[in-house]
Amino acid sequence: MSSTRRVLIGIGGGIAAYKVCEVISSLFKSGVEVRAILTRSAQEFITPLTVATLCRHSAYTDENFWQPVYQRPLHIELGEWAEVFVIAPLTANTLGKLTYGLADNLLTNTVLASTASVLLAPAMNTDMWEQLAVQRNWQQLQLDPRYHSVGPGAGLLACDRTGQGRMAEPAEIIASVQSLLHTGGKRDLAGKRVLISAGGTREHLDPVRFIGNPSTGKMGLAVSQAASDRGAIVTLVHAPLPNSFLPVEEKGRGGLLGRIRTIPVVSAAQMQQAMLECFPDADLIVMTAAVADVKPAHYSNQKLPKHQLPTSLPLEPVPDILAELGSLKQPHQRLIGFAAQTGDIVTPAWDKLQRKNLDLIVANPIDKPDSGFGTDNNTAIFLSQKRQEEITRCSKLQMAHYLFDFIRKIETDYGEL
Ligand code: CTP
Repeated sequence: MSSTRRVLIGIGGGIAAYKVCEVISSLFKSGVEVRAILTRSAQEFITPLTVATLCRHSAYTDENFWQPVYQRPLHIELGEWAEVFVIAPLTANTLGKLTYGLADNLLTNTVLASTASVLLAPAMNTDMWEQLAVQRNWQQLQLDPRYHSVGPGAGLLACDRTGQGRMAEPAEIIASVQSLLHTGGKRDLAGKRVLISAGGTREHLDPVRFIGNPSTGKMGLAVSQAASDRGAIVTLVHAPLPNSFLPVEEKGRGGLLGRIRTIPVVSAAQMQQAMLECFPDADLIVMTAAVADVKPAHYSNQKLPKHQLPTSLPLEPVPDILAELGSLKQPHQRLIGFAAQTGDIVTPAWDKLQRKNLDLIVANPIDKPDSGFGTDNNTAIFLSQKRQEEITRCSKLQMAHYLFDFIRKIETDYGEL
């Protein structure tokens, strides 16, 4: 078999099937090999031709059930081929069959003939989703470690109801697939409490003007996603994030933000308070936030007219949150910092590792193309007391997974978490 990653998508009968086309297209563009099975009712919504065109490979339906591939039954061949099996949209009917191990079509037979991790993306009308029987099946299936889920969120449904049952967005499904491809479905942070800070804090001079920085919180969100996908209980303390990242009403809380606790803050002092409150319960603390180092010495709670703006701004330092957490750290806790640097990134990061009593620091160049603030990708050097590892450019989610892999490696230096 080739080294290309292999994702099998089972498409159920629901209007959200059209969104799966985007999932297939994006996965293909990122170099993943995609195969797809459509149930009979899925074909009422999208055609095998659409799916086959996007996969660059024939799409399978129940018509193909008895057509062997290399003299082997199709469901066995496909089940063994898949590294990750996505079922989207997952209907109430398929959910019921999976719960009881029933197999009456190509999709459900392939699930049983495979040991791959299965990512479920349910989508249905709110009343259907909230039925006791459906909820019972859903809870039951979550107990099986093979199954992972994304969504559903809440929002306006195609049946004109507003409520729970909306399929997770394609970007959320793709992020979950990427995590599963990395971890192979292992939840090595199960039960661990991970506290993460993200975004750029703001120090206001008046209600409109502030000292800030270009951080968008993408790295912190990626670390939250990776930790949650690895089974951790995640709390994210975040400075203001771009609107598109937030769980706005229309998008619902179907993806990452539905699974984690979020605490919004604005200033360094608010972030300090939230982090200190959550710190005692945390096993792993990852401080990705770009904290504004200074604040205006005076704050006006009324907007200052232009002519009253000072020509020079007296500044005061803000608390160093990470250093304070470092001084409070208990032996079972692991504290991770980020150092956004230009030029020599290792020397100042190494200094911060010692000065702030960290277990690991991510030296992050912000003067390289496609790395640092606001980008989807990142490059870094991970530093611990005994190890150093260079991470060449990769997605922020991939980097977040490398970070947790590295933490596992330093456990061999310090003892298990
Ligand atoms: N940090 C923090 N509180 C601050 C400043 C930074 O908790 N007031 C954290 C950041 O979240 C990051 C790490 O410390 O994880 C390093 O941030 P950086 O700004 O590079 O560190 P500084 O100590 O401010 O160093 P420098 O003198 O280079 O600005």
